[in-house]
Amino acid sequence: MKRIGILTAGGDTPALNATVKGAVVRANQHRIEVYGFVKGFSGLLFPHVPHVLLNPLFMEIPELDETLGGTILGASRAFLDPADTATLDQVADRIKRLGIEGLICIGGDGTLNGLQPLADRFQAVLAPKTIDNDLGLNYRSEPDEWLRKPSAQGPGFVYERGRSREAFDLDNMINYATPGFATSVFVSAEGVRRIRTTAESHRRIAIVEVMGRHSGYIALGSAFGQPDIILVPEHRLDVAALMERVWELYELQKNVVIVVGEGIVDESGQELGARHPTHDPAGNVILSGAAEALRELLVRQFGDDYFRKHRRAPSAREAIFTRKVGHTQRGGRPILFDRFHASQLGGKAVDMLLDGMNNAIAILQWSAKRGFYVDGYDGNAFRDRWGFIHARQMHPSFYDPLLMKPSKVGIEYMLPIFTNAIGYDDVEFIRDSVFDSGNLTQPYHSVNTDVAKRIRYLEPPRE
Ligand code: F6P
Repeated sequence: MKRIGILTAGGDTPALNATVKGAVVRANQHRIEVYGFVKGFSGLLFPHVPHVLLNPLFMEIPELDETLGGTILGASRAFLDPADTATLDQVADRIKRLGIEGLICIGGDGTLNGLQPLADRFQAVLAPKTIDNDLGLNYRSEPDEWLRKPSAQGPGFVYERGRSREAFDLDNMINYATPGFATSVFVSAEGVRRIRTTAESHRRIAIVEVMGRHSGYIALGSAFGQPDIILVPEHRLDVAALMERVWELYELQKNVVIVVGEGIVDESGQELGARHPTHDPAGNVILSGAAEALRELLVRQFGDDYFRKHRRAPSAREAIFTRKVGHTQRGGRPILFDRFHASQLGGKAVDMLLDGMNNAIAILQWSAKRGFYVDGYDGNAFRDRWGFIHARQMHPSFYDPLLMKPSKVGIEYMLPIFTNAIGYDDVEFIRDSVFDSGNLTQPYHSVNTDVAKRIRYLEPPRE
């Protein structure tokens, strides 16, 4: 192989540059040129295919810094429609004309779904990323448990999980954790800790919403910030039990901190935060408002009188407040765990191309004996019997619905990831950079300005 391509698809995550760098460093060892395609799949959809040579003379460009959040290549949620064969053929033709012999897509479950039609045309593999940690399988046979029926709302199907027939074992998880997840948990847990002191001082009930779509991993990980209650999408809300617990805690400590995953569902399975669902271009539901919906519920259940009687607040609305951790949990410098494993996975993706693998995914495995290691896996094994890839939900056994906190298994799952997840340099970075006097005088210098100078375009085909 002489030249490969790489792109970052879907939403940005903290360790994308680390994955790209890992791939480029590995490619340098094999004397392979790497073209970085700009803005995910949208770069390939544009006839001039804007791209950057990431390793002139087989040395990575200086903008490629593994500690930098986001992606120097740019990201987009543009996706390739498998039914649009004409566009896919055009993409394949552009790849060929650029002399690209294999493509690495860095992405999540949506990107893996889009990989198949590409892999029918040229060699393509996926390096994983997502803060939601929802790309993977709890066990090998999990995709076979999906059932589908025609949608009552119109064309298409609705998918439902059938009963699990597998004993769960952490060692059998496929893609134990994805780059980006640890950093987002770090930010969320810290956010929870900071909200606590306001709740404590002002006798308030705080509801902190974290991302994750339909998977509760980030919410579970926020346990490191010691919230009193965690609510995850994988377990339906039990309003009576929640009220009892909130009331009990508030009586005892005069403040409560509740973390909610954005995809939490009510007793009938309806998403609390998707009263008016919208979709991104890849068809994912954009969730908003789980915390607000829960606040309304608590305001109604408590009533103003309760807070007035105890002289804690003039009204329930003033006592119960919400905060979204929002995009801060997805941005900025990746912590050591993410950086290290992301670059290993980038390197593995190159090895997989060299080994002739196609439609495959680089995965991060963990076992009690070996600890973390990278491996290559067949992308098709992630698909259900109709060929569709579902986002991984947190295994229900990770959560204790009575305690409303991580269960013993959930704690066992998290410890290998988060013990030592922060490097000394991550801490030193804070000391060095936050109050650097230059921050006050120098304008922000965006890496996009430098990368833009390196962008090249595909020449139009000769007539
Ligand atoms: O999939 C990553 C994620 O950050 C989700 O946790 C969240 O629901 C969504 O993306 C937000 O997307 P956007 O940044 O496009 O609003």
